[in-house]
Amino acid sequence: MSGKRLRKRFLSVFRSFQSKERCLITTIRDVAERAGVSISTVSHILNETRHVSDELKERVQLAMLELNYKPNALARSLRRKRSRTLGIIVPDSANPYFAEVARGVEDASFDQGYSVILCNSDADPEKESMYINVLAEKQVDGICLVAASSQTIETHLDNVPHLQIPMVLIDRENPNTVVDSVVVENTAGSIKAVEHLLSLGHQRIGCITGLPDLINSQKRSNGYREALKNAGLIVDESLIVEGDFRYEGGYDATKHLLGLNDPPTAIFACNDLMAIGAISAIVSAGLSVPQDISIVGFDDIHLAMFANPPLTTVVQPKYEMGVTAAKILLQRLQTPDLPPKRHLLQTHLLVRESTKAVVHHPIEQNRT
Ligand code: RIB
Repeated sequence: MSGKRLRKRFLSVFRSFQSKERCLITTIRDVAERAGVSISTVSHILNETRHVSDELKERVQLAMLELNYKPNALARSLRRKRSRTLGIIVPDSANPYFAEVARGVEDASFDQGYSVILCNSDADPEKESMYINVLAEKQVDGICLVAASSQTIETHLDNVPHLQIPMVLIDRENPNTVVDSVVVENTAGSIKAVEHLLSLGHQRIGCITGLPDLINSQKRSNGYREALKNAGLIVDESLIVEGDFRYEGGYDATKHLLGLNDPPTAIFACNDLMAIGAISAIVSAGLSVPQDISIVGFDDIHLAMFANPPLTTVVQPKYEMGVTAAKILLQRLQTPDLPPKRHLLQTHLLVRESTKAVVHHPIEQNRT
């Protein structure tokens, strides 16, 4: 059959399905009979397990279209031992930070012919474990995990060997585990944030921490302390308030800081959602940012530039973290025996409009 006639045939069949004239469920045997080839030829074409001529391929593809044949993906994955699907589990799919990371995973996977299943653990270790098992049952070829907590990483990785699914950690790691990971320089990023505030003359700088059991939170708090010590300042523990990476946590922590006898003139929030919550708390107290209090965040989520005022923050390469994690996972599928590797990506400070030089009121200058 000539190429032109074949294309014409494809189009007429395609149009017939567009008008929903037929919805048959057919088997690989029906396709082989319609195309006039063996079942094994159809199987080789479906699973790309042997070279088949273009003419035969086109006859089989036309037969599949005419019969509305849908290959059984699960059966194919069992034969191939590849479902060409990855899973990603994040603690909060509504948090723009994780959405941008997941987008990087999905784009890099799609480019390599892989689909991605996104799971939201709600930062609940039990739900996270449930999803790891669900993804294993669905025969995913690998999992990208942004862990609910540093502790759950060890639990999962103790269980994962029997699942025999490669896993890469994104953003949150556990030094006791030897597994591929993609993380950023959290301590250095926090030092840059606090040094920026110090350069503006701020000395009473508050810190709203992330979730205390996460290693990246601990590293950010450590960076805050290190920057103050490097500047010869004593760390005032009353200026450090435990947060939770949520808008509400930033709002409540800032209300607490504003209630101190000697409130801070600047606040470093260990993620942008808490920094935006801090801005809201300051405004609701009748004060303004940065005129009364400067604010710095961490992440540079898309919303940061639309905050009022636009947020000064530490940029995490979120999309690149997702792309890197997907590439590591796909590489591991090809070379399972490579030693695990920790990929450390850079952060940098992006100064916008939520910080300014501190104004020392005349009375304060006499207070020494
Ligand atoms: O906004 C969510 C926070 O949790 C980010 O800072 C990211 O690092 C994640 O750990």
